[in-house]
Parts: sequence; structure tokens; C-alpha cells
Amino acid sequence: MNDKSKLTVSLGEQSYPIHIGAGSFDVLRQTIADLRAARCPVALITDTRVAAAQATVLESLGFEPRERFIVPNGEGSKSIEQYSALLEWLAGNEVSRDGAIFAFGGGVVGDLAGFVAASYLRGLRFYQIPTTLLAMVDSSVGGKTGINLSSGKNLVGAFWQPEAVFIETATLGTLPEREFSAGMAEVIKYGMLCDHSLFATLEGLPKLQVDSAKLPAIIRRCCELKAEIVGADEKETASEGGRALLNLGHTFAHAIENVAGYGAYLHGEAVAIGLVCATRLALEEGCLDQNILLRVGALLERYALPQRVRENLRTEALLEAMRKDKKNIGGKLRLISMRTLGEACILEGVSETRVRGLWKSAGAV
Ligand SMILES: NC(=O)c1ccc[n+]([C@@H]2O[C@H](COP(=O)([O-])OP(=O)(O)OC[C@H]3O[C@@H](n4cnc5c(N)ncnc54)[C@H](O)[C@@H]3O)[C@@H](O)[C@H]2O)c1
Repeated sequence: MNDKSKLTVSLGEQSYPIHIGAGSFDVLRQTIADLRAARCPVALITDTRVAAAQATVLESLGFEPRERFIVPNGEGSKSIEQYSALLEWLAGNEVSRDGAIFAFGGGVVGDLAGFVAASYLRGLRFYQIPTTLLAMVDSSVGGKTGINLSSGKNLVGAFWQPEAVFIETATLGTLPEREFSAGMAEVIKYGMLCDHSLFATLEGLPKLQVDSAKLPAIIRRCCELKAEIVGADEKETASEGGRALLNLGHTFAHAIENVAGYGAYLHGEAVAIGLVCATRLALEEGCLDQNILLRVGALLERYALPQRVRENLRTEALLEAMRKDKKNIGGKLRLISMRTLGEACILEGVSETRVRGLWKSAGAV
């Protein structure tokens, strides 16, 4: 593909563009203008912190106050309560089936708004405008939407593909450094699961910052990888490989988030610990040598990402949370591991004894 400002997620009739770079918001403004010209109701969902930090951009998109819904920032907003409030708001505003919903924010806003779009009036058009690194490289692409239950993360949701994704890396300018680092955990994940040369590139580059000249190309590469994987296995039904591999480290991460309480760890921080657990699992399976574990550790360290749990999380509670993971089949733990660096695989029926050992190595009690 020659046009560097656009990628396509190929899903037949549901295919959609990812617009990347300085011109992407021009396309976004035109999209909004076209919807308005066709008299389609539009609604924008964002969170408190994004609304404040990106106030100028938000204003420039031209949504009227009554067309905006602002949820509190943080993982806690991926809740039944916010979901229900949003549905009532759309109904109160008489948003009809020709309406369109725009998610302006990180993965929390994207997942929540996407699920609202998937379910309100059996489905409205949906657009993603990611403003965190994590959302740009991962959550805004692929159509997984959902909310959390107290018993587990992302337990309610739907596959609902956006009509388009608009990535303007300049919006990262206001992102706190800790959030940027959390996004880097997902970037590193791509290298580990399917692109060892991306991993090597990251190793070779000085620590990436919001304004690094190389950052847009790295984001683009991650989107390309995600688009490829999602295009081949949209609903994660492939028996071998496929979309499930994107969950490298995530079964561990979701357990940490669930047991520590949502928000105690940033999602990417929990993923970083999960990546170490998954690498150690591959090491124990005899797939990797110790050197890979050291390389993964060194790259995570560069972004000040945790590799062990911070406080005394209980191994048994973490294991219990893992038993609820959506990937498990027939009550057996199904984990994503690696055959080698850059090639993830699914491990069926991993023994709980082994997983207990991994949690102990990660500092759980
Ligand atoms: N759907 C998927 O495929 C998928 C994939 C990965 C992760 N996720 C989900 O994504 C969520 C995590 O996403 P996240 O890391 O983007 O977290 P987030 O949405 O909570 O955003 C992180 C914080 O940064 C703030 N923020 C966002 N953009 C900003 C900006 N430009 N300037 C200043 N502040 C800004 C937000 O208000 C928030 O406080 C989790 O719920 C996770 O489950 C979903």
C-alpha cells in the first residue's frame, strides 16, 4: 500500500479505513459534515480528562454540547451504569437509526461507546477517534467493544466494527507519560507475537516519546498488523492462531486488573506483567532461551513498565480470575504463549500448578 495516510481493515462489506496522520482530522471533519448534511443525528462520547485536555480539538469538531456525553475518566466507566446512562441519553435525545456515534478518547471510551453503538436500536454507525497510544495501536481497530462486570473484565460486549478510525498522533501531546508507557506495552506485544523485526526495531531505537519522529511509523505498523490479524479472523473463531494471539499476556493482565481492582494498574501495565508471565511460560515449555526473557524485560524496563505485581496479590485469587477467561474451553486454561520471539501460539490445558508457579515468579503470594 503506497498511501501512508490510509490503511484498510479488509472485512468484505464491513471493510473500513484507518486514517493516520496530519490529514486524518480533515477526513473526520468532512465525515461529520456529510452526516449533518444528510440530517443524521450525531453523538460524541468522551471522558472528563480528554474533554479537558483536548478541549480545542473537541471544539473544532463542532459537536454541540447537547450532542456530547462525557463519562468520568478511567476503567470504572466501562460499567453497566454508564452504559445504561448513555442509552437513556441517546433515547432522550431521540437519536434515530440513521444516527452515528463517535468515540473520542482511549480504550475505555472506545469500548464503552462501541458497545452502546452496537446495541442501541440494534446498532448505529460508529467511528473511533483514539487519543491514547494504546487505543491507536490496538483498541480502536478490530471491533471488539464491551464493558466490565464485577466478576470480570469485558464480560459483556459485542463485535461491532467502526465505519472508520481517525488517528491524529498530535492528540498524544497531552497524554501523561505513564499512559504513553502503558500503550508501549501493547506495541511491544505486537513485536513478541508476530513481528520480531518490530521488536528488534524497538530495541534499536532510543526510548520513544510522544514527539519522536519514528512514532507514527511504529503506530502505523501496529495498525497494519492488527488489521491483518482481524481481517483473517474477525470473531476469534480460528482454531489455530488467529485473533486469539493478540491476547498474548492478557489472560494474566485481566486477572491482575480484576483482583487488584479496576484502575489500580493501567491496562498496559498489567499487560507488561502478563507479557513476562507468557514469556516465562514459553521458556518453561522449552520454546525460548533465557536470553529472550532478558530482552523482553529490558524493553519493558526502558518504558518503566512493571514486570512483577506491586503488592501482595493472592495467587489463588488470580487463578480464580483466570478460570473465568473467555478463551478457556471445557473448563481448561487456554493461554497464549510463544513458539519463538515473533511467533505466538495457543497452549491448551496449561496446568494450574504451572500457572501458580508463574504467579509466584511475578511476585504474587
Ligand atoms: N477493544 C479492544 O480491542 C481493546 C484492546 C486493548 C485494550 N482495550 C481496553 O482499553 C482500555 C484501556 O485503554 P487506554 O489505555 O486507552 O485507557 P483510557 O481510555 O482509560 O485512557 C487512559 C487515560 O488517559 C486519558 N486520556 C486519553 N487520551 C488523552 C489525551 N490525549 N490527553 C490526556 N489524557 C488522555 C483518559 O482520560 C484516561 O484517564 C481497557 O479497558 C482495555 O480493556 C480494548
